Amino acid sequence: MTTPQAIKSCCADMYSRDAVALLLGDSYHPGGAALTRRLADTLGLRPGQRVADIASGPGATARLLASEYDVTVNGVDLSATNVDRAQRAAAQAGLGNRVHFHHGDAEAPPLPDTIFDALVCECALCTFPDKNAAAQQFARILRPGGRVGITDVTITDAGLPAELTTLTAWVACVADARTVDDYTGILAGAGLRTRHIESHDDALLAMIKRIDARLTALLITAPKLLADNGVAPDTVLAYTRLAAHAIKAGRIGYTLIIAEKT
Ligand SMILES: C[S@@+](CC[C@H](N)C(=O)[O-])C[C@H]1O[C@@H](n2cnc3c(N)ncnc32)[C@H](O)[C@@H]1O
Repeated sequence: MTTPQAIKSCCADMYSRDAVALLLGDSYHPGGAALTRRLADTLGLRPGQRVADIASGPGATARLLASEYDVTVNGVDLSATNVDRAQRAAAQAGLGNRVHFHHGDAEAPPLPDTIFDALVCECALCTFPDKNAAAQQFARILRPGGRVGITDVTITDAGLPAELTTLTAWVACVADARTVDDYTGILAGAGLRTRHIESHDDALLAMIKRIDARLTALLITAPKLLADNGVAPDTVLAYTRLAAHAIKAGRIGYTLIIAEKT
């Protein structure tokens, strides 16, 4: 049986790999910078506010929010490699004084109580084994009236094909994705009332197509690079084909959710 700890380690390890950056680019979520801007706009971020980025990955979102919305950002990620990368990239961008990254678990983030005006969590809640614990932590670090902005993989009541429920699929944000109602229920259980929901399924499909295109191009131009980075093209392409099929069949989507601490 796979333990929650094993899932977390596997996830942090996977997203530390250069191969992921090779296939996903700088932003590890569907919709990239455009959807991050949509999230920030919908959250109503204002200059000077404090924002937490839970599962901040390589830090592209934190840099974007600090430079375009003039906020300060504290990112937390379970991958020490990503925390390092993110900290270096922020320093290089001249944002080192407004963007900070911490190594830690979303289910117990090393951040103080009630100081954040807003929190973002992009394409990551789906990977946390204890989503209720993570939501409780979101509520703990937000001030009253503070807002959570989530974008995440969502499923419908039809559920997933069995091939998309493996550990690899879990780490790839699919296997433990929930319905929109599940997510809003989890948030409500932590005192976070949902204010807004919108669908971005097209962004998920576009991301999958982009991964396929990058992989196919690299297979021709740099097969050794893929092998050196531990990428098994057939396995990745089999997953992306299944996922694309499930999206087109309406079984998987990508959803933006805004909730407020009441
Ligand atoms: C799909 S990536 C998204 C990264 C970032 N939010 C973005 O959109 O670019 C998922 C991230 O979650 C991190 N992660 C997974 N489980 C975590 C946990 N329990 N606590 C904190 N970070 C976690 C991984 O290390 C990875 O950086």
